[in-house]
Amino acid sequence: MAIKRLPRKILVLAGSPVRDGNTDTLAGWFAEGARAQGAEVEVVRVAAREFRSAGCTSCRACQKLEAYACVIRDDASAALAKMAKADAIIMATPLYFFSASAQLKTVFDRMFSLYKWDNAAGTMQTPLAGKTFGVIASAYEGAGFDALEKPFRLTAEYTGMKFYSLRVPNAGVSGDIRGKQEIRRKAAAFGKKIAKG
Ligand SMILES: Cc1cc2nc3c(=O)[nH]c(=O)nc-3n(C[C@H](O)[C@H](O)[C@H](O)COP(=O)(O)O)c2cc1C
Repeated sequence: MAIKRLPRKILVLAGSPVRDGNTDTLAGWFAEGARAQGAEVEVVRVAAREFRSAGCTSCRACQKLEAYACVIRDDASAALAKMAKADAIIMATPLYFFSASAQLKTVFDRMFSLYKWDNAAGTMQTPLAGKTFGVIASAYEGAGFDALEKPFRLTAEYTGMKFYSLRVPNAGVSGDIRGKQEIRRKAAAFGKKIAKG
């Protein structure tokens, strides 16, 4: 009897404040490709004006909880819960001064609550281990992707996640990307690749 594989759950955190700008468009094209490959894709706009996310306060209360959860209750809470359940987490961001957007970084830092450290024993546990982690970044020009990617790549290595990235230079200003069919093809292909696992 053939065993049917469950569809891969992919969570995209879209980190631009611009609705329907380059990041949202890339997230949509990525999702098209991934869904065509049978994946379930959810896009959460974590930089939307109405999305409330405090940064990590380093209270470390999460380390005393049994659950992998942050004690700060805001819109990042649901996003973190989805991250823990997803097979693949993709962070999409515009390049802002050679880095990711500040809004995305607030959610990224709250991932602290998805780890449990025992410093005395020198151990770390996380439901993120074994997942796929990726970045989609676009920029007006082409410089700075190495710097942007580095914290994501290092976090993936530290956590035991497979890391992938899609760099989109020459994306133009917000919205310009919509007419760029070659980029659409690349974003959809990236979605297919992540969906295949
Ligand atoms: C605050 C800010 C900083 C930016 N910094 C850079 C940069 O360092 N290099 C670059 O090539 N583009 C930079 N850009 C351009 C954006 O990265 C680019 O237009 C991106 O595709 C916009 O995506 P969005 O429409 O999803 O916001 C910057 C834009 C803003 C608003």
